[in-house]
Amino acid sequence: MRATATANSNIAFIKYWGNIDESLRLPANPSLSMNLDGLYTETTVEWHPEQQGDSLNINGQSADERATDRVSQHLSALRKRLDINYSAHVDSVNNFPMGAGIASSAASFAALTVAAVAAAGAALSERELTCLARLGSGSASRSVPSGFVEWVTGLSHAESFAFTIAPRDHWGLVDLVAIVHAGHKEVGSREGHTSASTSEFQTARVKTAAQRLDVCRQALLERDFASFASVVEHDSDMMHAVMMTSKPPLFYWRPSSLVLMDAVRRWRSEGLRVCYTLDAGPNVHCVCVASDADELGERIVQLPGVERVLRASVGGGAEVSA
Ligand code: DP6
Repeated sequence: MRATATANSNIAFIKYWGNIDESLRLPANPSLSMNLDGLYTETTVEWHPEQQGDSLNINGQSADERATDRVSQHLSALRKRLDINYSAHVDSVNNFPMGAGIASSAASFAALTVAAVAAAGAALSERELTCLARLGSGSASRSVPSGFVEWVTGLSHAESFAFTIAPRDHWGLVDLVAIVHAGHKEVGSREGHTSASTSEFQTARVKTAAQRLDVCRQALLERDFASFASVVEHDSDMMHAVMMTSKPPLFYWRPSSLVLMDAVRRWRSEGLRVCYTLDAGPNVHCVCVASDADELGERIVQLPGVERVLRASVGGGAEVSA
């Protein structure tokens, strides 16, 4: 009863921030993302009839209690659905820095869900896998399907699912992730979601999110970079405005993040097709068209505070690999 699955991380163009139901992770607003090819987690799950309690290794080391508890809680939701009562040993390997605003939880919980279901010998629909992955981490629902993915809100567990809106070869976008700080973030998105409603701006952000998503989806489908860039940056800025005005305030931007955001806007005015978006961390995702990626990569590494640049094109969905 063992299986291995891989899942790519994803970057949201229209952000998920805040839940209407914390335990089911029913999001306050719909979101839209692209999977990041090669920024992945590979997870092996083995269900053990004799083992007492779940165990977890991350990158070859035994994980701390907090991480193990979160995984164990997710495994319990999967045990319930799969109708098994075995404990599991989980081995998870990430090939990118964790806790740095590049959504390691998305790739981890997508891979964990797909591996655990396969290890139990069950065959569930992709839609149901996205709902199950969502219980572990909201953004993980978007790492299950391939390419460009939308996650709908929904008022119940089964209604809040994610699906592909365009395949990965639809548009050759590249995410150049400018790493300005690769350490663990101080306040994770999990706690952040619970404080989103303490900002007066959250109501306004949520109210207009579906409109922004429509504009973003349309721009993606028509490969209209100008329209795409303006809605993606605006949506990221709105989420960070909510974060900064939450109680207590959450400031993820660093001076070097602002230097990058400013440079991206300037480069776009010079004709390069690039825009920025930031998750719950200071690293800046510079999303561009493939033909401008080399030039932009060279410019980004020269900016002060940039430690390195990760590069990812549009990725596939979660897959069972062994
Ligand atoms: C800012 O999915 O990491 O990256 O459900 O608590 O695991 P949990 O939160 P998570 O939140 C992602 C927040 C974000 C925006 C996004 O990816 O849509």
